[in-house]
Amino acid sequence: MRKRKVVALTLLWVLILILQGYWLFESGRLSRAAERERAQQAARGAELYAANCMACHGPEGEGVTGPPLNRSEFRAEGLTPVQIAATEEMLTKVIARGRPGFDHPTWRVEGGKVHSYTRMPTWSVEDNGPLNEQEIRDLVTFIMYGDWKQPGRALQQHPELTRVKVTEYATNPETGQQEQRERPVTADDLDVEAAGLTPEENRQAKELFVRYCLACHTLGSYGGVIGPNLTQAGNWLPSVEFAKRWISNPQSFKPEERMPTVWHGQGTPMDLTEVFRQEADKLQSRMPPFGETLSEEQIDLLARFLVGLGTQEGGQAQGGAAGGTSGSGAGGS
Ligand code: HEC
Ligand code: HEC
Repeated sequence: MRKRKVVALTLLWVLILILQGYWLFESGRLSRAAERERAQQAARGAELYAANCMACHGPEGEGVTGPPLNRSEFRAEGLTPVQIAATEEMLTKVIARGRPGFDHPTWRVEGGKVHSYTRMPTWSVEDNGPLNEQEIRDLVTFIMYGDWKQPGRALQQHPELTRVKVTEYATNPETGQQEQRERPVTADDLDVEAAGLTPEENRQAKELFVRYCLACHTLGSYGGVIGPNLTQAGNWLPSVEFAKRWISNPQSFKPEERMPTVWHGQGTPMDLTEVFRQEADKLQSRMPPFGETLSEEQIDLLARFLVGLGTQEGGQAQGGAAGGTSGSGAGGS
């Protein structure tokens, strides 16, 4: 009698243990699935960010003409569920509807903090923007949970995402009306020549530049403003070796090895907001490393191209030489 009771109790315990194990396994499986889903959303968000937002908010969300977005207050870690929901809602609304302001970058420092008076574009389809609800959700997930190195990697793997475009006005022969059209900038549009390179090498270097660098750097009449304008790069780059090492891995440079060129201190919000950039972090390059994306020959060609720019008469940029085109198409959208 006693024995049987013991057996029954033991069986009951075994059953409970199995059920509990199953429950733990099942909830673990569910949260792993949710985590995977979130990682996928964040990865899509990073690509959308590179294509649409990077030109104004910076490759690592550090801010350029738009304010920094890599702020701890936007991160989900350490927030209560209520705060998470509020942050999600706030980000979704700003991205969808934008914020009114000036078209030209305008900000003022008031009480030691930067206040932006620049317009943030509207992005949701309902507000005539290009992004649907899912895409905006992906962006919010990226800002709250993603890794800020992701947009730089996305840009290297899918350089077509960040292709710089130019708006042209042409007369339609049928209607006689001036019409506006957008087209990607090509190597032929880059009105610079490097000294010491053959015409063929110049063309190849410009093609690489259009593909991988133009979204962030201006060359001649076109390009982005995230990094310095490289039209005259040969005037400050110390050597081909330096340029090669820089392109391969900018983050390997210590602050004292850096060129004292003046892209920091251009008065962008990122220079002014101590809150968002740690002191030690300030002189670390934001440029993604190209050592793994480009071959040694390609890096060598680009380095010789840059060092040959602006050093000779005739090698100078001819600004505004692109007849019939207008607008500088500063990256993205
Ligand atoms: C043409 C430049 C530009 C582009 C492109 C742009 N933004 Fe902005 N963004 C701004 C500016 C300027 C502000 C600040 C507006 C203000 O508060 O006055 C801003 C503000 C924001 C804010 C609010 C930050 C805060 O401090 O409250 C978020 C979030 C944001 N942008 C996300 C994005 C996302 C995501 C994209 C890409 C889909 C994007 N932005 C593209 C210029 C831009
Ligand atoms: C995502 C944006 C981004 C891309 C893409 C990018 N750069 Fe940069 N680059 C920067 C930034 C930002 C800086 C300067 C500030 C810094 O170090 O963060 C910079 C600086 C430079 C400098 C100046 C280095 C010095 O010390 O004077 C050179 C040269 C350069 N980049 C070349 C290139 C080339 C070539 C490519 C394409 C293969 C490229 N960059 C692609 C953002 C970018």
